[in-house]
Amino acid sequence: MRGSAEGNSEPGCAWTGDLHGHHQIHRCQDAAWLVEQLEKYVADYLLGLGFKPGSVCVHIQRSWPVISEPGQLIGRHHHPNAHLSAVYYLSGNGSGKCGALRLFNPNPLNELIPGMAVGGQGPLEASAARSISHHDVAAHAGLLLLFPARLDHAVLENCSDNTRFSISFDLVLTAPPGPTSAEYLPPHPSLWDPLRQDGNLMP
Ligand SMILES: [Fe+2]
Repeated sequence: MRGSAEGNSEPGCAWTGDLHGHHQIHRCQDAAWLVEQLEKYVADYLLGLGFKPGSVCVHIQRSWPVISEPGQLIGRHHHPNAHLSAVYYLSGNGSGKCGALRLFNPNPLNELIPGMAVGGQGPLEASAARSISHHDVAAHAGLLLLFPARLDHAVLENCSDNTRFSISFDLVLTAPPGPTSAEYLPPHPSLWDPLRQDGNLMP
C-alpha cells in the first residue's frame, strides 16, 4: 500500500494513507471487525456525552492507515471535515516511546489570564492540572481512542526502533434518515443533492 514512499511530503512526517489515495479502509472486508468495534464504542461515547439514543446518525466519512518510521512525527492539525475522529493502534506498548497522540487544550480558561501558564517566573505553574496546555496518550496496541475532530492534535516523534502502525477515522453526525426534523443537525445525506458547478442538479 505504501509503495516506495516512507513518509508524507513534509520532511520527517509519517506516511498517512489519506494523502496517498488510501482513505476508505473501512470498506475493506478485512476491516469489518474494526468497524464493528467502532460502532459499539462510538455509541457508548455519544451516550456518555449526553446524546439522546437514536437522535443522531453517525457516518464513517473516511479512514486511513498511518505508518510512522523511527524519527517520524505528525505536526499539529485538526480535521475540519468531520465531527468526531478516532484512532486505533496496531502497535505500541503504552510507554510512549514509539509516539503519543498529543491533544491540545483549545482554551485553558483556568489560566484566568490568557497565556499565564507558561511556568518560569510566572505565578502559575505550567504543569498546573487545571491549566495544562495538552494531554498525551501513548500508543498502545488495541487502544481505540475517540476525540472531537476539531480538537487540535499532533503525533509525537517515534523514538523507538520499531515502525508504528495505526488506523484513523473521521466520522460525521447527521439527523437520522427519514422525515425527521433536522434542526441543529445536518440532514441525513440521503436527502442531499449535489449541484454541478454550472448550477444544475447532478443527473
Ligand atoms: Fe489527525
